[in-house]
Amino acid sequence: MERVILKVFRFDPDVDKGPYFSTYQVEPREGMTVIEALLDILDKQDSSLAFRYACRGAVCGSCAMYINGSYRLACETQLSMLGNEILVCPLPHLRVIKDLVVDMSPFFEKYNEIMPYLMTETPAPQKERLQSPKQRKAVDPVIDCILCGSCYSACPMTWLDKEYLGPAALAKAYRFVADSRDENQRERLMIVDSEEGIWRCHSIFNCVEACPKKINPADSIQRLRRRVLAQKLKFW
Ligand code: F3S
Repeated sequence: MERVILKVFRFDPDVDKGPYFSTYQVEPREGMTVIEALLDILDKQDSSLAFRYACRGAVCGSCAMYINGSYRLACETQLSMLGNEILVCPLPHLRVIKDLVVDMSPFFEKYNEIMPYLMTETPAPQKERLQSPKQRKAVDPVIDCILCGSCYSACPMTWLDKEYLGPAALAKAYRFVADSRDENQRERLMIVDSEEGIWRCHSIFNCVEACPKKINPADSIQRLRRRVLAQKLKFW
């Protein structure tokens, strides 16, 4: 296999006047992923390169990057899918801490706002709170979110309105609202029923295209709107 050229975004705000790209050549192995190529560069060519990763199995969401103009998980993206020249950038519209590492705190602050855990009022059963297969299926479309931040980075409304909860937090809110075991839907719906919540989404759908797990946050937002309206009609 031919050598592959990786152009990697670099920026250390403490040292550099502005961002630039470093070019590296990598000898690809069969099945080599972008994260493996970056580790190879780190080991053999440039120990100053900063990037984030953890599970290497596409389940932790740490290595989301903007690769050749698309949101991708670096650990599951093979070099062979990308051609001989690969542009590797951090998630756009998030503050760069160093190179490919961005500040995810605004993303996780929004995530925490929707109270991302089951809330129950009835006493805990002896063993567990059971769900029927049908009840479990209701959360299937959103349960695979790995909080990689790609949808948050891609949504123009999060660029314009720093208070907007964003697609990931709203999809996660729907995940709990749709869960038959959750007993505090009312409070969660009150949180998302705000100008900075479900009503700020302008149905731009970048979030759907960006998601590496093929989740549809826009659909979850629509479902939350329906639930909010149904609740308002109930208490009207
Ligand atoms: Fe943003 Fe997705 Fe809505 S891109 S505006 S959250 S449909």
